[in-house]
Amino acid sequence: MARIAEPSYENLHAAAQLLRKGEVVGMPTETVYGLAGSVFDESALARIFAVKERPTFDPLIVHLGSEVLMSEPLVALAKLELVRLDALNELARGRTGALMRAFWPGPLTVVLPKTSRVPDLATSGLPTVGLRVPRHPVAQALIAAAGVPLAAPSANRFGRISPTTARHVDTELGDRIPLILDGGSCAIGLESTVVTVLEDGHVILLRPGAITRESLEQVTGTPMDVAGKPYAHTLGLSAPGMLESHYAPARRLVLLPTSVSQLDAQTALRLAQDAGPKIGLLLQAGNAGELGRKFGQLTGREVVALSLSREGDVAQAARNLFSSLRSLDESGATLLFAEPCVGQTGLAHAIADRLNRAAAKT
Ligand code: TXA
Ligand code: MG
Repeated sequence: MARIAEPSYENLHAAAQLLRKGEVVGMPTETVYGLAGSVFDESALARIFAVKERPTFDPLIVHLGSEVLMSEPLVALAKLELVRLDALNELARGRTGALMRAFWPGPLTVVLPKTSRVPDLATSGLPTVGLRVPRHPVAQALIAAAGVPLAAPSANRFGRISPTTARHVDTELGDRIPLILDGGSCAIGLESTVVTVLEDGHVILLRPGAITRESLEQVTGTPMDVAGKPYAHTLGLSAPGMLESHYAPARRLVLLPTSVSQLDAQTALRLAQDAGPKIGLLLQAGNAGELGRKFGQLTGREVVALSLSREGDVAQAARNLFSSLRSLDESGATLLFAEPCVGQTGLAHAIADRLNRAAAKT
């Protein structure tokens, strides 16, 4: 059974000891909690896949200590023999360096050509590796104590909702791992933005997140492509970060065509016709009590309603998304509904992306 431990010096030391023995531990980051293991230890990597029940075609993200930011980050990564500088042309190097300087430490993962020092298991046999320098002080302290970069996917069972508290990690994986460091609730609440910089300097957005497309484009000085499925195939990227169904609650989730305040009775009744007596409702904004009552009247069901942000603050909505989905999943409701996220900001796109995938489960 996992021990949830405060990030004291002793506990960080204990976690680092476990990591050095090839064990895996729960690690807080500013995005979501990760399941960390030494990137250079193949048995630890195998353990990560086993614990998560994750298929081995889904590559892991490698988390680095912030000392790589003390000089030119890309050069530091080449010196650590993690990335192949020779595989990138000058434009690619320039754009990559600019991205790292602008957004590290923080919620940006950059996918780059890897060296043979990075085990193929970590990258699912891809010739590239995803790298990020997390901003969370406990993640940084753990990487420093372990003395190696840490491979860490989100600490949930495969395909399920990412954890944003130590308690969530315990619910997902507590019976399989020895220790979870408690770093509080994740400040961002959505997984990192993932981009790849191709050898010729093309930048592609693989997964939307808190670092928005607009801010990335501003830094690279070039419009970026967004990976659709065809693009993913051309690149040989069948990574589940890009699978349609992902981040899903156990209960079926249905996306409403419009906000509850604009929903008509006929549509509501049709959507809920097969539902049991109790249903869940995830609101993007507004008063959960009021809107929940309205949805109850429209559908004739008992409604458990949660609002992501009463004031409609999109950062707060992102922070609450996964924990709210999790609560609704555990509420006894047999069918869940969510309002669509229609905002135009980058974070709103990231929320919409996660909701679409959560609802795509069949
Ligand atoms: O915020 C985050 O990124 C969190 C925390 C723990 O850092 N981690 C996370 O890991 O979300 P995970 O395993 O749930 O997502 C990893 C995703 C893959 O599914 C894939 O989409 C992308 O990152 N990825 C990683 N390496 C890649 C590579 N070499 N090529 C393409 N995509 C890659
Ligand atoms: Mg994940």
